[in-house]
Amino acid sequence: MDRILIRGGNRLSGKIAISGAKNAALTLMPCALLTDEPLTLRNLPRLADVDSFGHLLNELGASTAIEGTRPTDFGRVMTMRTGQLSSTVAPYDIVRKMRASILVLGPLVGRAGVATVSLPGGCAIGNRPIDLHLKALEAIGAEIELAAGYVKATAPGGRLSGGRFRFPVVSVGATENVLMAAVTAKGGSVLENAAREPEIVDLCNLLVAMGASIHGIGTETLEIEGRDRLHGATYKVMPDRIEAGSYACAAAITGGDVDLVGANANDMRATLDALVEAGVTVEEKKGAIRIAAPDRIKPLTLSTAPYPGFATDMQAQFMAMLCMSSGASVLTETIFENRYMHVPELTRMGANIEVHGRTAVVHGVDRMTGAQVMATDLRASMSLILAGLAAEGETQVNRVYHLDRGYERLEEKLQGVGADIERAGDG
Ligand code: EPZ
Repeated sequence: MDRILIRGGNRLSGKIAISGAKNAALTLMPCALLTDEPLTLRNLPRLADVDSFGHLLNELGASTAIEGTRPTDFGRVMTMRTGQLSSTVAPYDIVRKMRASILVLGPLVGRAGVATVSLPGGCAIGNRPIDLHLKALEAIGAEIELAAGYVKATAPGGRLSGGRFRFPVVSVGATENVLMAAVTAKGGSVLENAAREPEIVDLCNLLVAMGASIHGIGTETLEIEGRDRLHGATYKVMPDRIEAGSYACAAAITGGDVDLVGANANDMRATLDALVEAGVTVEEKKGAIRIAAPDRIKPLTLSTAPYPGFATDMQAQFMAMLCMSSGASVLTETIFENRYMHVPELTRMGANIEVHGRTAVVHGVDRMTGAQVMATDLRASMSLILAGLAAEGETQVNRVYHLDRGYERLEEKLQGVGADIERAGDG
C-alpha cells in the first residue's frame, strides 16, 4: 500500500495548477445517462473516483472515451455516450467503493423510468443517509422501494410528474439527484432550500447546455420545466475550490508564497476571508490567486455551514494550519457527525487539540514533529500532509489511497513549489 514521506520545513514558493473539481465531475458525469447523444466533459481531474464513475457508466451501457492522457495534460477530456441503457442497476460492489454512485439514481429514473441502486452505506465521517434523496424523488412522482440493501425508484407510467419539495436541511447530493430527475419530468418542479454550492451551479449550467429549463440557478429556490428529451453538449468542469483551498493552507502553514493558477476566487469567498482573518495575504490576480503567509498564523473561530458558509471540506485543512497559530482557535463542525478523525493523528505530531462533541479547540504550538500517521478519510489525509509540510523531521502518511480519490498528482504539485515530498510503495 502506498505511503507518502515528507520532510518538513521548506517554505513553498511558485505556482500550483488547480485541477477540475472532483465534486463537480461526479455530478456532471451521470448527466450522460440523460441523453442518447454524446456528452463531452473537459478539464476532468485525473482521480480514482472519476475512473470509478466511468466504469459505473460503462456498466449501465454508456461508452466512455478519454483523450488528453499525455502526462502534460492536467485536464482530461472524456466523451460519454449512452445510446441505449444496458442496465438500470448500480450494483453493490461498485457503490460500496464509491458513495457518489448514488448520483445515478436520479438520471436513470429520469431517462428510463426505473432505477435500482445499492444503498451506499456510511463512511469514516458519518453514516451518510440518503433519506432526503428519496423524499425529494417521491415529491416529483417517483415510487420508492427499499429491499435487500437496494433502493428502487420507479416512475409510474414511465415518466416522472414533477412536483414541489422543500429540503428540511441543505443536501448537496439530494439536490443534485432530484435536479437530474426533474429535468425530464412531464411537468414543472420547484425545489426549496436547495443546496447552492458552486458544484450545483456547474450542474445546472451543464443541464441547461443540454436543453433543460432551470431558473433560480445559484439560489436556494430552483424552478425546473421538464423536457421531453435532452441533447448532448461539451462542457468544461469548474476548478476545484477545495483543492485550491487545501494548497492555500499549504502555503500558509509553511510561511510560503504561492500562486493558485486557475482557481476561481468567487467560489471560495468564505475560505479566502478566513485566510485573511488569519493574517494571510490573498491577492486576486488575472487567472490566479496569490497566497502569501504571515510570520505566524493568527487563531480563528470558525463554524462549518452549507455554501456560502465555510465549507466542511475545508475544516480539517484549516485545523492543521491553526495547530501552529499564535493562540487558541475554536472550530465547530455542523455538517457531519464524525469529522475529527484527523485530531488524534495531528496530536501525535505535537498538536494540542481538545474535542468536545462537534467543537474542537486548537491551542497553537510553536513546533510540530514528524511522525508515522494514518489517513482515514480524504480531507483528514490532506490535513496530515499539511502538518507534515510544517513539522520538523519526517512524516509518513499511510493509506494514501484516500488522498488519491480527491487530489490529482499531489506530490508532483507540491514538489513543484519546493516541498520535500515523495511517494513510496510497500517497503
Ligand atoms: C457532498 O456530499 C460532497 N461530496 C462532500 O464532499 C461534502 O462534504 C458535502 O457535499 C457537503 O458539502 C460530493 O459532492 C461527492 P450532503 P453529500 O448531502 O452530498 C445529511 C469530500 O470530501 N443528509 O450535503 O453526501 C448528511 O448526513 C466530500 O469531497 C441527510 O441527512 O453531502 C450531512 O449531515 C466529503 N440525508 C448533511 O446532510 C440525506 O439524504 C449534508 O450532506 C442526505 C444528506
